[in-house]
Amino acid sequence: MKFSASAAAALAIATLANAAPAPVPSGGVDVRANDTAPVYHTMSDFDFQSLNLALNQEWIELDLFNYGVRTFSEADFAAAGINAEEISLIQFMANQEVGHATLLTNILSAYGRTPAKQCTYAYDFYTVRDFVNFCQRLTRWGESGVYGFLPHLDSRPSAQLLLQSITTEARQQMIFRQLAGAFPMPVYFETGISQAMAWTSLQPYLISCPAENPRIEWPIFPALNVTNDANLLVDGYNAAISHNRTALTAPGKTVEITWEAPKGNISYDGLYNSTVGGNVMNATMPKYVAWISQLNTTYTDFNITGNYSGMTTQPGGVVFNSTDDGVVNGTMFIALTDSNPYVTPYNLSLLNDYIIAWGLYQAD
Ligand SMILES: *[C@@H]1O[C@H](CO)[C@@H](O)[C@H](O)[C@H]1NC(C)=O
Ligand SMILES: *[C@@H]1O[C@H](CO)[C@@H](O)[C@H](O)[C@H]1NC(C)=O
Ligand SMILES: *[C@@H]1O[C@H](CO)[C@@H](O)[C@H](O)[C@H]1NC(C)=O
Ligand SMILES: *[C@@H]1O[C@H](CO)[C@@H](O)[C@H](O)[C@H]1NC(C)=O
Ligand SMILES: *[C@@H]1O[C@H](CO)[C@@H](O)[C@H](O)[C@H]1NC(C)=O
Ligand SMILES: *[C@@H]1O[C@H](CO)[C@@H](O)[C@H](O)[C@H]1NC(C)=O
Ligand SMILES: *[C@@H]1O[C@H](CO)[C@@H](O)[C@H](O)[C@H]1NC(C)=O
Ligand SMILES: *[C@@H]1O[C@H](CO)[C@@H](O)[C@H](O)[C@H]1NC(C)=O
Ligand SMILES: *[C@@H]1O[C@H](CO)[C@@H](O)[C@H](O)[C@H]1NC(C)=O
Ligand SMILES: *[C@@H]1O[C@H](CO)[C@@H](O)[C@H](O)[C@H]1NC(C)=O
Ligand SMILES: *[C@@H]1O[C@H](CO)[C@@H](O)[C@H](O)[C@H]1NC(C)=O
Ligand SMILES: *[C@@H]1O[C@H](CO)[C@@H](O)[C@H](O)[C@H]1NC(C)=O
Repeated sequence: MKFSASAAAALAIATLANAAPAPVPSGGVDVRANDTAPVYHTMSDFDFQSLNLALNQEWIELDLFNYGVRTFSEADFAAAGINAEEISLIQFMANQEVGHATLLTNILSAYGRTPAKQCTYAYDFYTVRDFVNFCQRLTRWGESGVYGFLPHLDSRPSAQLLLQSITTEARQQMIFRQLAGAFPMPVYFETGISQAMAWTSLQPYLISCPAENPRIEWPIFPALNVTNDANLLVDGYNAAISHNRTALTAPGKTVEITWEAPKGNISYDGLYNSTVGGNVMNATMPKYVAWISQLNTTYTDFNITGNYSGMTTQPGGVVFNSTDDGVVNGTMFIALTDSNPYVTPYNLSLLNDYIIAWGLYQAD
C-alpha cells in the first residue's frame, strides 16, 4: 500500500484532531492547548529591568572569559594545572555567553526597546589562579541574581528561557571552582539574591557603557569588605574535579569588616548613576550582619570597632536538622543591616530596605 506524503500528513492531522487531549491534572498555568500561546516578551518594567540586568551580567561574562583566554599563555594556564582542553572549555563558556546575550537581547527588544549593549570592563587579577577565582565569584552572583527574581517575573515564558540559560551558568560557576582547586559544590542549595544585591556586586567592574544603554533602575549599596576573608586558592591544590581540603572557615571565626561611607543619593561609581539603596541615607549605623546562603538569611550581632569598621562572628546552624549542611558555606553573601527582619527565599528582596553595605563572603 502506498501513501503520498500529503495523504500521510492529512491522516496525521485528522488523528490529532480526533484525539482526546492528554489528561492534565487541574491547576497549572498555560499548559492546555486552548491557553494563550506563549509570547517571549517582557510584560512589565520589573521584567525589563530584571532581564536587562541579567543581560549586563551575560555581557561581562562574555568579555571576562575571552579576556582570560586571550591574556594568559598556555604555560600560564599549565602552571595553574589547567591544560589545553580545559582552556578550550573556558573558550566554550565564552561562546555560551554569546547565545545567552542573544536570547536576552531578543526578549528585551520587544516594543522597540533598546537592550543593553556590551560595556568595557576593568579587572583586578593578574594570574590564572586569580582569574578563575574571580570567575567563580562573578558567576556566583550572576547565578544567584537570577534565582532571586525568576519566580517573580510577570512573563513566565521569558522566565522559562532565562531558566534554561541560568542552569548553564550554574555549571560554569562549579567548573570555575574546580579550576580553582576547590571543592566543587559545598552547599545543598544555591541561594538567590535580589537584583539590587547582584547589581551592587557587578557595577564596580564597569568602566564605560554605550550611551543608549537603558538606565538600571535597581539601587546599589555601599561596598562591604571582609578584610580577613578566606582565599579560595590554597597552595598545592590546583585544578581538579574535586579536592577534600581542610575547610577555609568555621563557625566562631571572628570576621573583620570595613564598609564604604555613603556618598549621597546617587552613586557615581557605576555608569548608570544608580540610586543608593537601603537604609544608608537614614544615617543609621549597622547593628547586624546578614549571612545569605543556601535557603537561609542568618543574622549575627555587629560590633562597631572604628570608623566604618567592625567585627562579628561566623554563625553555625544547619539548613535542616536532619543534615550536617551548615547554613554558611561556599561563595556567599553578607550584608550590614540596621534591623534583622525574618526573610525567606521568596521574599529576600524585602531585605533591600535595611541594607547598609553589601559584599561577598568566601566561606569555603
Ligand atoms: C479549554 O479546554 C478545556 C479542556 O481541555 C476545557 O475544560 C475548557 O473549558 C477550555 N477553555 C476554554 C476557555 O475554552
Ligand atoms: C562546607 O562544606 C564542606 C563539604 O561538605 C565541609 O567540609 C566544610 O566544613 C563546610 N564549611 C563550612 C564553613 O561549614
Ligand atoms: C579589603 O580589605 C583587604 C584587607 O585590608 C584589602 O587588601 C583589599 O584591598 C580590600 N578590598 C577592597 C575592595 O577595599
Ligand atoms: C572527604 O571528606 C569527607 C568529609 O567531608 C570524609 O567523609 C571522606 O572520608 C573524605 N574522603 C577522602 C578520600 O579523604
Ligand atoms: C536624597 O534624595 C531625597 C529625595 O530625592 C532628598 O529629599 C534628600 O534630601 C537627599 N538626601 C541627600 C543627603 O542628598
Ligand atoms: C550622573 O550624574 C552626574 C551628577 O548629576 C552627572 O554629572 C553625570 O552626567 C551623570 N552621568 C550619566 C551617565 O547620566
Ligand atoms: C571615616 O571614614 C570616612 C570614609 O572612609 C572618611 O571620609 C572620614 O574622614 C573618616 N573619619 C575619621 C574621623 O577618620
Ligand atoms: C561583640 O560585643 C559583645 C558584647 O561586648 C561581645 O560579647 C562579643 O564577643 C563581641 N563580638 C565580637 C565578634 O567582637
Ligand atoms: C534554613 O532554612 C530552612 C528553609 O526555610 C528552614 O527550614 C531552616 O530552619 C533554616 N535553618 C536555620 C538554621 O535557620
Ligand atoms: C534544630 O536544632 C536546633 C538546635 O538543637 C533547635 O534550636 C531548632 O529548634 C531545631 N529546628 C527544628 C526545625 O527542629
Ligand atoms: C517573609 O516571608 C516569611 C514567610 O515565608 C514571613 O514570615 C516574613 O514575615 C516575611 N518577611 C517580611 C520582611 O515580610
Ligand atoms: C528612612 O527615613 C525616611 C524618612 O524618615 C523614612 O520614610 C523611611 O521609611 C526610612 N527608611 C527605612 C528603611 O527605615
